Order: sequence, then C-alpha cells, then structure tokens
Amino acid sequence: MATQALNVTNPDFKTKNGISAADRKKIAEALGVVLADTYMLFIKTQGVHWNVTGPTFMGVHTLTEEQYENMYQAIDGLAERIRALGHKAPASYTKYGELSSIRDKDEVQTVQQMLDMLIADHETAVLNMRAATEWCEAKNDYVTADMLTARMSWHEQAVWMLKSMASN
Ligand SMILES: [Fe+2]
Repeated sequence: MATQALNVTNPDFKTKNGISAADRKKIAEALGVVLADTYMLFIKTQGVHWNVTGPTFMGVHTLTEEQYENMYQAIDGLAERIRALGHKAPASYTKYGELSSIRDKDEVQTVQQMLDMLIADHETAVLNMRAATEWCEAKNDYVTADMLTARMSWHEQAVWMLKSMASN
C-alpha cells in the first residue's frame, strides 16, 4: 500500500465545473504564462532589492521588498488555481524562462535602469494578464478572471510606485 501511494504520477484530473476540458486546459496554459511572468519578476525585483546602491537605496530597497513578498504569495495562488483546474503547475526555472516573455537580466545597472527594467516587466505582465482575463471571462471562468483582475490591479499600482520613484 505504501509503495502504491508513492507511485502516483499523473497530476492531471477530470473535474465538472461547467468549463469544458479543452477550455480548462487552455486556461491552465494561460495561467502558466502568468505564473512564469510573476516568477521572473519576483526574481528580478529581489535582485534590485539586493543590488541597489546610492542615495535612493532605502526607498528602492524597501519598495522592492514589499513587491517581491507580494509576488511570492501570488505565485502560490496562481499555481494552485492551475491545480484546481485539473492540470500540472509548471515548476522549474527553465520552464518559466520558456513560458515567460520577461527576460532574465543579471547585470550591473544604474538605479534608473533598474527601475525602468521593472516598470517594463510589470507592463509586460499586465498585458499577458489582460489577454488571459478576457479569455477566461469568455469561457465563464470568473474565478480565474477575478484572480487575474486582482493581480493586474496590483501590478498597475506597482508601475505607478516605480514610476514615481524613477526620474521620468
Ligand atoms: Fe531583504
């Protein structure tokens, strides 16, 4: 019995929630992109938190800490929504790199460049979320649409705060 319990391999399952299996699969895939975008932004935001220097250090360091902590929580909710739709959540850095349109960057940058990078990445994330939200609503998945709407709202607020801190 114990051996059997450890040999379960297929995380996908069937569920009847009023959304067709084909649509649930597509929604899970769209959520996988949002999860990957959020993970990429989480890593890059934490990198700014660590490496920022200069007179604006404390403000940027504190804001980016709040932001990466928020995204750390969000990642779990997005992955668990994929599971509730009956699919496997992507769970590797390689996979996130493939799924996300946000690119890795680990270079020495000015504070302005760091802020501009995060602003552009949040904007990219919002664009993907908006497309996914519209699609979820068309397929009657209001739960995922609500989750994504809340995430978009947060990322748009993050853009405002980062832009207010940047010089342009
Ligand atoms: Fe820290």
